[in-house]
Amino acid sequence: MQNLILIGPMGSGKTTVGKQLAKRTRMDFVDSDHMIEERCGVSISTIFDIEGEDGFRRRETKMLSELCERSGIVLATGGGAITSEENRILLRKGFVVYLKTSIETQLARTQKNQNRPLLENVDAESKLRQLMTERGELYEQEADLVVMSGDRIVSKVVDEIMEALDR
Ligand code: S3P
Repeated sequence: MQNLILIGPMGSGKTTVGKQLAKRTRMDFVDSDHMIEERCGVSISTIFDIEGEDGFRRRETKMLSELCERSGIVLATGGGAITSEENRILLRKGFVVYLKTSIETQLARTQKNQNRPLLENVDAESKLRQLMTERGELYEQEADLVVMSGDRIVSKVVDEIMEALDR
């Protein structure tokens, strides 16, 4: 069974939507960042502190290549996963859903969680805008389906994905 891959920026709801989507499709839910933390025994922020972003990206690619060997999973990726060509090739094996959202929603969602090293000690709104300028086209280009996530009710977002899968 083809994997369902969720891509999109920080705070687009990949984990929340992914969990519900997995329930509805009776597939296993896997969160790449969470798996990296489990493997390393420390938070994403600590990995960035010790190994820098490059170290984190190496771990991320290794984890994605392991997870993409599996089948029948709903996979939530980190917001930067699509920046590497190697990762993009891996993710294309699945059905890729881009959860599109506004900067305002991203800001509100990311403020609740401190474990986002790219937003530490910077103006979060400018950083999110900058990342979207750099990555927005890549998300669109890699997506088999684009769904507005924003502040919609999660079940509606999942309904839309399910309808597209049925077609
Ligand atoms: C990142 C997004 C994060 C995490 C890391 C880097 C990014 O994942 O992988 O902090 O580069 O946008 P979420 O999108 O799940 O927050």
